[in-house]
Amino acid sequence: MAARPAAARRSADGASAEHPSGDARFKMIDRTLKRFQYQQDALIEVLHTAQESFGYLSEDLMIYVAQQLKLPMSWVYGVATFYHFFTLEPQGEHSCTICMGTACYVKRAAEIVAKLQDEYGIEPGETTPDGKFSVAAARCLGSCGLAPVIVLDGEVMGRLSPDEVLDQVKERLASKKPQSVPA
Ligand code: FES
Repeated sequence: MAARPAAARRSADGASAEHPSGDARFKMIDRTLKRFQYQQDALIEVLHTAQESFGYLSEDLMIYVAQQLKLPMSWVYGVATFYHFFTLEPQGEHSCTICMGTACYVKRAAEIVAKLQDEYGIEPGETTPDGKFSVAAARCLGSCGLAPVIVLDGEVMGRLSPDEVLDQVKERLASKKPQSVPA
């Protein structure tokens, strides 16, 4: 269900009024906003919470965050689209992000993308029609020593061949839900 943030207001003491949609997930965002005292430089933290709560950053969510931090929507959108860890589209039940940075590229990252494309018919940025699997590409994930690096259901994995990545993905898709990743 799309969130309807337009009527959300902040009360005089800075606390967020109850979100009119009644969606309890907004409370998680509100807690982060409060923790950072609605400071504009907490934008990335707030967007992280929004994405963790809703799975992706819808336009409505970005409007909500922009309103709460008193930032222009264009600024929020710019940040959300600049960083690879934010996604503006609903994700599949399972997801695989492939690092396409230089170190990973020379270690066959493009072959991993091609392998998954052959098997599932989707390119980075797409989700299978059944909503089960999403593929994304990222810039350097900061673990170049493990190249090629992938993030499968939130778990960082490195030094896997394209065939090994495919095996891992098949295993995940055979399980019902993404395995939880220790914090
Ligand atoms: S290039 Fe892939 S982790 Fe740095």
